Amino acid sequence: MKEVRAAIVGMGIGRPNGQAIARNPRGRVVALCDLVEERMQDFAKELPAPVKLYTDYQKLCRDPEVDALFIGTPNQWHVPIALEAVRQGKHVLITKPLADSESAAAELVAAAEAAGVVNMMSLSTRFGAECRYLGRLAAQGYFGEMYYARARSIRRSGIPAWNLGFIQAGGGAFRDMGVHVLDAVWWLLGQPKPVSALAVAGAKFGPRGLGYWDYEVPKAETYRQFAADDYAGGFIRFEGGLGVQVESFWASHQPEEFQIELFGTEAGARLSPLTLYRTVEGAPQDTTVRLPKGPEAWDVIAGHFIDCILDGTPCSAPLRHGLIVQQMMEAVLQSAATGGEVRIDAAMA
Ligand SMILES: NC(=O)c1ccc[n+]([C@@H]2O[C@H](COP(=O)([O-])OP(=O)(O)OC[C@H]3O[C@@H](n4cnc5c(N)ncnc54)[C@H](O)[C@@H]3O)[C@@H](O)[C@H]2O)c1
Repeated sequence: MKEVRAAIVGMGIGRPNGQAIARNPRGRVVALCDLVEERMQDFAKELPAPVKLYTDYQKLCRDPEVDALFIGTPNQWHVPIALEAVRQGKHVLITKPLADSESAAAELVAAAEAAGVVNMMSLSTRFGAECRYLGRLAAQGYFGEMYYARARSIRRSGIPAWNLGFIQAGGGAFRDMGVHVLDAVWWLLGQPKPVSALAVAGAKFGPRGLGYWDYEVPKAETYRQFAADDYAGGFIRFEGGLGVQVESFWASHQPEEFQIELFGTEAGARLSPLTLYRTVEGAPQDTTVRLPKGPEAWDVIAGHFIDCILDGTPCSAPLRHGLIVQQMMEAVLQSAATGGEVRIDAAMA
């Protein structure tokens, strides 16, 4: 195989992922799949060559001219589509979160690993330039022992409801935005084994028709379907005494923030703006890092996925990582529902 023939499922976040695959010299987008034909026709115009259009993912998964799928449907459809794909021997690249529940995520990881296909998460924060920079420093031991971290995504009025999957069961703020900062901080900390979570969560804006994207007021028949969290905050403990405070708010009366803070014995860091903190010659030293313009996260993701398929490069973001992050998220939400600390039986490889 000299190139990867990819199909893109879901014409929202599928577009930047699909464009990146099409931009890669060893990637080709050969098919699109969505329930809405016009959305496919619209995206097809941006692609360099004609593509097949599917409205039925099961038919797509049987297409012998497709090697791999990017899956970017609402959360509740990631696993059904990916299960069908891996059973047909297709490689899969899946947007965050991996699934709408821990059991669905675990079923898919077992099936993908058994099928022996490349299975990867598309994670725009982890593969972003700032995160990768901090990851390189962490791998060099720059921070010393990392023993604590804070990770948060705070919006003022940012509940998405352009597909109902966001606000129905299996959606919610924590699986939508908490997942970005939780995955990234867990990766930066070196993927420690989570052991328990203690959290609160709820919905203070969405069910009242407030806090929606850009202050838009949705129709009552939309917000009456709100059945998820619009905020969650908690604490995750890891093996070895490491702790992470994590927060995700779709709506709040607080300034907007998307932040990760690392606490290490030798240095600390903030993701935004990218800053390093140390003590040098007995004096505090804060360094603002200005990264040169590099490739977009989507191109890094597409490039790595293609390298894994064509060159056998070990995948740095396998679905198993998505499963472990899902386990942490579900433990956070379960702790909020039950009012107690929830143990995590982490599916470490
Ligand atoms: N930074 C990121 O990585 C990022 C950003 C935004 C969204 N997302 C994720 O992408 C997913 C979709 O979000 P979005 O904002 O793109 O939504 P969207 O509504 O814009 O797009 C989803 C598309 O999936 C299609 N679809 C739904 N069910 C389908 C099915 N069974 N078969 C084929 N197509 C189907 C819909 O018709 C729609 O066009 C969510 O899981 C979300 O968490 C990731």
